[in-house]
Amino acid sequence: MTTDPLHVELSSLLKPVGQEHVLRWWAELSPGEKEALAVQVRGMDLARVNRLARSLRVEAERAPRGGPLQPPPIRSLAAMDAVTRRAAREEGERAIRAGQVACYMVAGGQATRLGIDGPKGTVEVGPVSRKSLFRLHAEKILAASIRYSTEIPWLLLTSDATDRETREFFEREGNFGLGPAQVRFLLQGSLPAFTPDGRILMKTRSEIFMGPDGHGGAIHALSGSGLLDDLLKEGTDVLSYFQVDNPLAPPIDPVFIGLHRLEGAEVSSKVAEKTDPEEKVGVFALRDGSLTVVEYTEISDEDRLARVEGGRLKFRGGNLAIHVMSLSFLDRLREEGLSLPHHPARKIVPALDEAGRPTTPSEPNGVKFESFIFDAIPLARTSFVAEVVREDEFQPIKNAAGKFTLEDARQALSRLHARWLAGVVEVPSDASGSPSQPVEISPMYALDEEELRSRVPPDLQIEGPLYLSPEPVPGE
Ligand code: UD1
Repeated sequence: MTTDPLHVELSSLLKPVGQEHVLRWWAELSPGEKEALAVQVRGMDLARVNRLARSLRVEAERAPRGGPLQPPPIRSLAAMDAVTRRAAREEGERAIRAGQVACYMVAGGQATRLGIDGPKGTVEVGPVSRKSLFRLHAEKILAASIRYSTEIPWLLLTSDATDRETREFFEREGNFGLGPAQVRFLLQGSLPAFTPDGRILMKTRSEIFMGPDGHGGAIHALSGSGLLDDLLKEGTDVLSYFQVDNPLAPPIDPVFIGLHRLEGAEVSSKVAEKTDPEEKVGVFALRDGSLTVVEYTEISDEDRLARVEGGRLKFRGGNLAIHVMSLSFLDRLREEGLSLPHHPARKIVPALDEAGRPTTPSEPNGVKFESFIFDAIPLARTSFVAEVVREDEFQPIKNAAGKFTLEDARQALSRLHARWLAGVVEVPSDASGSPSQPVEISPMYALDEEELRSRVPPDLQIEGPLYLSPEPVPGE
């Protein structure tokens, strides 16, 4: 029996939740390691940890799945009539100009599948400029701020896995020219990884294996950090939400924002058609009458593969993770004490084995829990789903090889910008219709096709890689 008061304290916390094994190497830890482990244990929400661990052991404690899925109504943004489009654009632009719109980008993921060192936002996505994803998003927000004579706030969700390096990157880059009050970091929570029967896994003998708790943490971090109140005080009305990994995401889309407001929606979401049932995107569906997203890891094979007459997928509203959310909705969720469900996922966790030896598993050996932002959608009183053209808005960077690679994203940007240019000048293309030389347009030069048309000289000749930018290309 130890009389070490620190051990006594930690054991009194861990024992009631069946996780005392976390301390099993206590006797061999240095004072510094003991203190570090104490900080980790004290910082954990043990009631939440216990609930999650129990859900792995006790079937009855898992979230109920609900009724069968139905395809939701989806409206097309591209096919919207001109009158509605103009009204939506005007409404959106009015809100942006009045400082009622803020962007919220989630960048707390560990980029495990991409296998890079550092936050995903640092990858060099510019097809010609090689600018980082962070810079690309920043320039879109800066250009929109200039266009609408305002300072659009940019909220960034980081996690313990990405926070320090992200902040350092922004500092080195001088916040990419954004005002000091514009960039606002929020830190999401962490959760331990478990064995399949709910025991906390250890990274080292003195460190619990922790990971980000999912981008559902974006909602919690907003109220927890006080930013929700700040934004409400500043008169912000809507958040334009997107993921760091998608270089085509428009952080500010006046038509979509305007439509959201005109519809009086609490949450609005963009989709693009899913044509390959194996594609790793969630899909929108109605469950028990409520709009919801069913993640690709959780949809049944029957629903995933189901097709309608004509051969299209029955559930084809692919989740682009682009949403507009009303702040009053997030405020209401806070008032109502909302907590989003946690989804378990089998993952490879290079944790210590029972004997305290490091492991390098090749198959999923552990379970991580994450909450998903889109689980807030069924809680909205009014919501809608709008379809956009995939090539315009969605090419995420997920994997080192195969589908959704960095190179795919560079090519998608180049193809999009070549399409914009093709309306004005001759763009040489190859047999597949892609530009024969990479093409890139800086958001600071033109944010969209319309702006590009008004700026690009009609006698522009494309003879090599083209980067249109108001500033000189770095290194030239
Ligand atoms: C996600 C969506 C999926 C959608 C697809 C589109 C989930 C659960 N599913 O899938 O429905 O079709 O994107 O690209 O998100 N992140 C955090 N904190 C975390 C975990 C993730 O901020 O704890 C951020 C990541 O930095 C990234 C984004 O969330 O920007 C998506 O995470 P990722 O794990 O890549 O999601 P997918 O499985 O690709």
